[in-house]
Amino acid sequence: MSCCDRRTFLAGAAIAGVAVTAGCANVGTVDTNSVPTSKDPSGATTLKTSEIPVNGGVIIATDKVVITQPEAGVFKAFSSVCTHAGCSVTEVSNNEIHCPCHGSRFDAATGQVLGGPATAPLAKKTVADNGGTLTLS
Ligand code: FES
Repeated sequence: MSCCDRRTFLAGAAIAGVAVTAGCANVGTVDTNSVPTSKDPSGATTLKTSEIPVNGGVIIATDKVVITQPEAGVFKAFSSVCTHAGCSVTEVSNNEIHCPCHGSRFDAATGQVLGGPATAPLAKKTVADNGGTLTLS
């Protein structure tokens, strides 16, 4: 049998597909809350406060940051990398940040774990509100 006949190739492709979908690296990286951003002269990401829903948030995939607004006019930022196994969180709703890989949930105001398997909070990031424009640092 040839090393590359059709049956061998398809079996290999199926195994490779399972390996890719079973790992975290390619799961949960979809930016479901994509918003327009720009860069300030220092290279920091900026965006309008109006892009952040109250009791919700957005995920800036390029910066690996999730920005939330747990109450009107209060903005928080955290790493979007889940502390369980490194997947990207993909959703913020009802003041909870959700990781799609194994179901961990984090408080959108503090980053603390609300439900595992994660046991450590999301790392805090700095976001400044400059008159309606948020700047990440
Ligand atoms: S990587 Fe987020 S819950 Fe497992």
